[in-house]
Amino acid sequence: MADRIPEPRLQQTIAIIGCGDVGSTLAYTLIQNPICSEVLLVDPKTELLEAQVRDLGDATYGGRSATRIRAGTHKEAGQADIVVVTAGAKQKTGESRISLLTRNLHILSSIFTDMAPISPHTILMLVANPVDILTHFARKLSGLPESQVLGTGTSLDSARLKGILAKKADVAASSINAYVLGEHGDSQFIAWSSATIGTSPFSLACPNLLSAAIKREVSEHTRGAAGAIIAAKGCTAYGIGNVAASLCKYILYDSRTVRPLSFYQPALGCCLSMPAVIGRKGIVRPVPVKLDETEQKELEDCARGLREVIAGAEEEISKDKEMEETMEKDLVGKE
Ligand SMILES: NC(=O)c1ccc[n+]([C@@H]2O[C@H](COP(=O)([O-])OP(=O)(O)OC[C@H]3O[C@@H](n4cnc5c(N)ncnc54)[C@H](O)[C@@H]3O)[C@@H](O)[C@H]2O)c1
Repeated sequence: MADRIPEPRLQQTIAIIGCGDVGSTLAYTLIQNPICSEVLLVDPKTELLEAQVRDLGDATYGGRSATRIRAGTHKEAGQADIVVVTAGAKQKTGESRISLLTRNLHILSSIFTDMAPISPHTILMLVANPVDILTHFARKLSGLPESQVLGTGTSLDSARLKGILAKKADVAASSINAYVLGEHGDSQFIAWSSATIGTSPFSLACPNLLSAAIKREVSEHTRGAAGAIIAAKGCTAYGIGNVAASLCKYILYDSRTVRPLSFYQPALGCCLSMPAVIGRKGIVRPVPVKLDETEQKELEDCARGLREVIAGAEEEISKDKEMEETMEKDLVGKE
């Protein structure tokens, strides 16, 4: 029958790969603020996985949330509406995000092997660090269209920026429009020249916050916040859990919200955070931002640094492949 109504989609699933501190906090946030029918958790630590599913499940039975939570396989996760990758080795105290790279790239590559074939409608959200580099490689490993692969990038740093500026300007954080851009890491920078309180530029609304000393203090705060929290409690989870859950909502609701996100920048040859409209198709479109001369230089330096790390990682990967091939040949020779 040509006019038959197509079968309705019965559920929307968010899969979380890795249910450690960040993954489980994200799952809890998604239960408390329900936006999907099912949250699927995937982790090779089966005891931890079962315990997290039971504990999180207990948080759903009180009637506040209709979201179901269950353990799943990588294969099942590959069919979800959104796949959030939090799987990765933890950042140790004092360890840079870049030094996590080799360990986390291996994990990332195995995740895509296990998830294949990924649904062509899936939106992939990278949270694990170094998030900009992993987002870059996830584009290639997933085979998904460019717009469907994004990293949380400097969303969390920008939330922290709003927090500190709100206190200093004595206004609500929601009235501050200011972004940390570039790398979710040491080379990030604040786009001061486009920051506003309401619609007024800082130079008009709060010129005292643009002194060199305050700018330094604020950028040290946003850059160093994760390190200080990790040193004291071993992880950061609530902030990123909240940010990632909000991004999931913007995607599933096709809300067209503007956020600083990590996605591929053709002019810079890497993934880093710039403002973008986010919706059901992922990155709907980039939103151009006017940077002053200093910020433009910071952006270019940041991209150069990321490209160097990517080139180094690509070299390591090709060495690993050569070694694997040699070992395989040796094994065949011995048989
Ligand atoms: N982007 C951000 O703003 C931000 C903020 C905080 C943390 N992070 C990053 O998130 C990541 C996770 O942090 P955490 O504190 O939750 O670490 P964690 O060690 O508590 O959890 C990581 C989990 O990933 C699992 N895992 C490993 N390999 C896997 C695989 N192949 N498939 C599925 N799961 C796998 C581990 O078993 C572990 O349970 C880290 O890389 C951290 O740096 C990012």
